[in-house]
Amino acid sequence: MTRSIKPLVAGNWKMNGLKADLAIAAGVAKGYDAALKPSVDLAICPPASLLFAATAALIGSRIATGGQDCSTQGSGAFTGEVSAAMLADAGASFCIVGHSERRTLHGETNATVKAKAEAAQKALLLPIVCVGETKDEREAGKALAVVKKQLRGSVPDGATPATLVVAYEPVWAIGTGLTPTAADVAEMHEAIRAELGRLLGKQAAAGVRLLYGGSVKPSNAAELMNVANVDGALVGGASLKAEEFLAIARACAG
Ligand code: 13P
Repeated sequence: MTRSIKPLVAGNWKMNGLKADLAIAAGVAKGYDAALKPSVDLAICPPASLLFAATAALIGSRIATGGQDCSTQGSGAFTGEVSAAMLADAGASFCIVGHSERRTLHGETNATVKAKAEAAQKALLLPIVCVGETKDEREAGKALAVVKKQLRGSVPDGATPATLVVAYEPVWAIGTGLTPTAADVAEMHEAIRAELGRLLGKQAAAGVRLLYGGSVKPSNAAELMNVANVDGALVGGASLKAEEFLAIARACAG
């Protein structure tokens, strides 16, 4: 945790969720009570098909919604793409960009991710820029170098805490039940803060929320959230169960 930063717990539903699953969002809203609201911000990033309805289901709850990706382009002949302005129009206030599944399955480079983050900012969405090393890279002792390079290539120039969130998601921890040790998370988040300091200036970097993602569960959330420079979580699988997502939010609230 960083004392001066209000933590954020964001749920990434990935390609999961039909209309009936809006009940999950409603369940989260029900449990996001007066005790929790001042201590932790929540966001749900459903598939784009549910964004408008999820936002409507969450009206009055103070739970934000977000997209999972956006186009680098503003509009036009880009079949299948969704622009940041469209996400904003559907009610989003966040947009995940550069998730490892996009980087690996869709060949997104750091330059693409940066362009998407800039497109999100232009539409007044808060980009959640994801970075993280693979298992091979960690085993080769390259994790810090890989993540710093991703940051240099993916973070928009001049970003501030109001226009940037960073999520550290080690690729090998996503959906595997594996997590880095608290010491490894601490080392990485400190390095991310320092690299952001070089890119954005120390003052801006000090306020940027740094989320940890990768197999966050109610059982490990408190330990991970207590690590210095961890200002919340990006949650995959556990965000599809209202009670689990709320338990992680409670752990994050301290
Ligand atoms: P899991 O929490 O399912 O490991 O997914 C993490 C993730 O990729 C969130 O973006």
